[in-house]
Amino acid sequence: MKKLFVMWMAAILLLSAACAAETAPAIIELPQPSADGMSLMQALKQRQSVREYADREIALQDLSNLLWAAFGVNRPEEGKRTAPSGSNRQEIEVYAVFKTGIYHYDAAKHRLELTAEGDHRALTGRGFAATAPLNLLFMADTDKTGPGAKAGEANTVSYVDVGYISQNVYLYCASAGMGTVARGGWNQDALIEVMKIKPAYICVLGQSVGYLK
Ligand SMILES: Cc1cc2nc3c(=O)[nH]c(=O)nc-3n(C[C@H](O)[C@H](O)[C@H](O)COP(=O)(O)O)c2cc1C
Repeated sequence: MKKLFVMWMAAILLLSAACAAETAPAIIELPQPSADGMSLMQALKQRQSVREYADREIALQDLSNLLWAAFGVNRPEEGKRTAPSGSNRQEIEVYAVFKTGIYHYDAAKHRLELTAEGDHRALTGRGFAATAPLNLLFMADTDKTGPGAKAGEANTVSYVDVGYISQNVYLYCASAGMGTVARGGWNQDALIEVMKIKPAYICVLGQSVGYLK
């Protein structure tokens, strides 16, 4: 009887340890983005760079809204997006880097797909990036933009395209009471290795996101 009790307790302990561990699901289905929010003029009034965040994960609905605002599909019949892109190449891929892993944002399916498990936030930038609840990476698929850039660099069109996406994130964050800042400082080579993506993907900008403290 005593042996049975010990085994039972061990099973409970193992189960709770497994539940407590932060695992990264392969797919994160995002809910429909909500159309509620403050006016554009109010959001512009409040737009600012914020580098300190509350120690709190991003809620799923906020994540959905944020990614859709960044570079989601707003005209499904044409596959067009919330940010413009030169010649509609849509060459920018958005990655979301959390404590649990790195995810690719599939805009057409409006979901996140696991690219690399584990905490790689420090690869996205210096200092506070390592602890920010979310770091976005905007990567240009330079195979889509063709010649015009030096090897290992993005095309100037991609820099412009990322600017629109980044500002969408700034404005959504301002409207939702969240903080964000555009950033440099990522480790291109280490990211390519960890994410197992083709070297033609060049990171153009990082952007940290979190709730206000
Ligand atoms: C392309 C770009 C790169 C930036 N890189 C960094 C950075 O590496 N670290 C940082 O703390 N802020 C960075 N910023 C944020 C700027 O410092 C910030 O926008 C500027 O100080 C103006 O402040 P505001 O955004 O609150 O108006 C960057 C902004 C841009 C547009």
